[in-house]
Amino acid sequence: MKVIGFSGSPRKGANTDRLVSHVLAGAQSAGAETAFFRIADLNIKGCISCYYCKSHDTCSIKDDMQGLYKEMLGADAVVIGSPVYMGQMTGQTKTFVDRLLPLLNADFTTRLTKRPALVLAFTQGQPDTGMFLPYMESTKQMLAFMGFAAKEIVVAGATREKADVDQQTDLTARAKALGAGLLGASIAKIKRKTLAPL
Ligand SMILES: Cc1cc2nc3c(=O)[nH]c(=O)nc-3n(C[C@H](O)[C@H](O)[C@H](O)COP(=O)(O)O)c2cc1C
Repeated sequence: MKVIGFSGSPRKGANTDRLVSHVLAGAQSAGAETAFFRIADLNIKGCISCYYCKSHDTCSIKDDMQGLYKEMLGADAVVIGSPVYMGQMTGQTKTFVDRLLPLLNADFTTRLTKRPALVLAFTQGQPDTGMFLPYMESTKQMLAFMGFAAKEIVVAGATREKADVDQQTDLTARAKALGAGLLGASIAKIKRKTLAPL
């Protein structure tokens, strides 16, 4: 089982990296292999709307997304984390998400054959964790359309200093439990496949 996590925070080692890492730690404690990627540290260019990916199974831009597509196609679960900037994901995260277009065939069916479970992890300065939920829900629906089995949204509020999230022990425990649960979701999926009539 492989669980991969992305953080779209430009601030290294800060709340978003930490929140995603808590989810991954939970997955790891349940036996998953994990990998963590910091979007802002990678070479990821903006989509150029060439639609190469509709006649080919990858993107025309030869940058770090090429490796990430492979990672995503092989993953059983994916965690995408971002700070809230101006009520939305960061620009770095959005550039990454735009570049997920090659995960769709020309007829809008998904190329994600494993249908990885998805957790969205947001951090925000605003203490009210419900404030940006409509935006987060619509992001979740969009990623479900891309072929992810979108599961949960975890939100850390009142995160300003780099490690504020670690003070919220109920939340970090929930993040770890979500990570461990991702593995269960994958196992249940495999069992369902095994039991399906031929
Ligand atoms: C440019 C910018 C815009 C932000 N916009 C919002 C916002 O709209 N709502 C909010 O609650 N917090 C906002 N914040 C606060 C961050 O979401 C919060 O501090 C978050 O934890 C930062 O992530 P990090 O700790 O991984 O760097 C903003 C911060 C920055 C730097």
